[in-house]
Amino acid sequence: MRVRALQSPPMVCVIAGDDAAPEVMRPTVEILRALAPDIRFVEPPCGQYAQARYGTAFPDETREAIDAADCTLFGASGGPCRPILWYLRWNKETYINVRPIHWQPGYRSPMLNPERIDYVIARDNLEGMYPPREGDLAELAALSSRHNWWPAAPVDKVGAYAVKVSTDEQMYLVAHAACQLALQRQSAGYPGRVTLGAKYSIQPRTDGRFRTIVKETVSQHAGLTYQEFLIDDLARRLVACPETLDVVVLGNEHGDILADVSSGTIGGLGLCPSACYGKAYAYFEPVHGSAPDLAGKSMINPTAMLLSGAMMLEYLGYTEQARMLEQAIGQTYCEGTVLPIDQGGRASTTEFVETLKMHLPASMS
Ligand code: NAD
Ligand code: IPM
Ligand code: MN
Repeated sequence: MRVRALQSPPMVCVIAGDDAAPEVMRPTVEILRALAPDIRFVEPPCGQYAQARYGTAFPDETREAIDAADCTLFGASGGPCRPILWYLRWNKETYINVRPIHWQPGYRSPMLNPERIDYVIARDNLEGMYPPREGDLAELAALSSRHNWWPAAPVDKVGAYAVKVSTDEQMYLVAHAACQLALQRQSAGYPGRVTLGAKYSIQPRTDGRFRTIVKETVSQHAGLTYQEFLIDDLARRLVACPETLDVVVLGNEHGDILADVSSGTIGGLGLCPSACYGKAYAYFEPVHGSAPDLAGKSMINPTAMLLSGAMMLEYLGYTEQARMLEQAIGQTYCEGTVLPIDQGGRASTTEFVETLKMHLPASMS
């Protein structure tokens, strides 16, 4: 899913992120440099370091480096780097977040027959309950009262509300991206099935409209099939029958929550990469956060970050190198002798990466 012409050679902005994130970013960039020596990596200051040195965690020069690059590789934010994540999502309008959920031999899945798990979540990356728009309940008194059987908002009580926003434009973009993904996967042998999960029974104007738009968009592609489930039932299906899923299209908060559930089915957050695409920009980040509990311990699993790097290589046109990296990861897990701690192994982040490097072509390790 490439969105605009690339510079030659391409330029990548690296934002390592907070807490334990730099511990997976460092080896990832090292491996990417070895795989594709012509890519230009720029690593502008960010987070705590930038805060201490420049008085802001997101200096102008960092924003300029993001703008000048073809895409950004982002670790994870645990606080200081949050404004950068917001910039990558809302200023760069990266409207779709693609989160592949794919078990491979060696991943420590708690499921029976985990080889059934191979689908992609297409998550709205911009709307729904994000960014937060909240206020005092009393403000809702200005809403015109609706005559139906739902109770009116308790505007006389102390409390707050949050607003969910869905534009037709964004819902069509998400629906279209989900169909493109399903078509791409179909050409690689997948069934071409788009599954919508939403709460259309309770939120007809937002999730109901999303349902209509996704269904209509899928129907315009003769080779694709459509199925839909209420979001709570879909959550069960992720666990009970993942083999029925191919491309799963979800609203922002549902996609956020269910991607973590899905990661749990294959063996955890350490294993799940993601890519966020817009019309004019893309960035790549693991599904997991900054894992503050692991910071400084060399215990964080770099697989999700490395696979996000592979998605980036693919986006930049380095398909062969992306496959090499994925294969090296696959072989390391398949052997199963040196595995990260979250996968039942005893290897530190560094030891795991060193083993993985041995599965890359000799010139790179
Ligand atoms: P988290 O994903 O950081 O961690 C949840 C659990 O999973 C922890 O036990 C952690 O140790 C484990 N874990 C996560 N990644 C792992 C990895 N690669 N290897 C092994 N174990 C891993 O989520 P959290 O603890 O809820 O949030 C921590 C911070 O990260 C918060 O500030 C949150 O807002 C932020 N966050 C950022 C992003 C992002 O930048 N895109 C995503 C999710 C959470
Ligand atoms: C994610 C994270 C983010 C989200 C946070 C850090 C805002 O959980 O990318 O999954 O909720 O989208
Ligand atoms: Mn999340």
